[in-house]
Amino acid sequence: MTDQDRQKRLAAEAAAAEVEPGMLVGLGTGSTAALVVEALAARVAAGLRIDGGVPTSERTAALARRLGLPLVELGEVPLDLVIDGADEVEQGSLALLKGRGGALLREKIVATASRRRLIVIDQSKLVPQLGRGVLPVELVEFGVRATLARLASLGLHPALRQAADGTPFRSDGGHLIADCATGPIADAAALDRALHAIPGVVETGLFLDLKPRVLVGTPGGEVLTLDS
Ligand code: A5P
Repeated sequence: MTDQDRQKRLAAEAAAAEVEPGMLVGLGTGSTAALVVEALAARVAAGLRIDGGVPTSERTAALARRLGLPLVELGEVPLDLVIDGADEVEQGSLALLKGRGGALLREKIVATASRRRLIVIDQSKLVPQLGRGVLPVELVEFGVRATLARLASLGLHPALRQAADGTPFRSDGGHLIADCATGPIADAAALDRALHAIPGVVETGLFLDLKPRVLVGTPGGEVLTLDS
């Protein structure tokens, strides 16, 4: 196990420990969120009774089912808590950049349907400003070349994500994803507004103003808590 994996596991276990009996819990997507599912499934196997988990991807749903975690569909009732990873967390604002795992749309739907949001990361995900890596933007297939041109006109250098077999990657909702090289994002809210103004854009990987609590696994073995 690498040191980064240890940090992820520390944060994931600390987050899973916050789940209380009777809770409805959103289950994120990615390698850190998978560790949360494992830790939560272990608690359920040991007797914790939760109302159910709402998975943010088919991948997470399959893992949860395999581990015997009860799943429910997202309904009208708000979730008590969602626990998810992130690709970048901006220090100070705790704005998030997400979606490199391809689940941004369902992740955002679940995050906004939840009373509380816990984000679990290793220390490498903390950045002074979002935009260190690519920003995923989910697109409808119809007219995608026109939409990519609109993204390019914003200076975003979009690249359509490819699956391992060389075909275009598709999200669980059947959409395409453009990974955009933004450079440091000075005004994330303005960029998010500009992206949402393009009709072919379904959702962006900018998760702003969600007031998460961020649990950071650190190399020293501590879990750092950052509050909005
Ligand atoms: C999934 O779409 C992303 O938003 C993930 O939350 C993100 O990619 C984090 O994944 P890791 O925990 O594997 O880094």
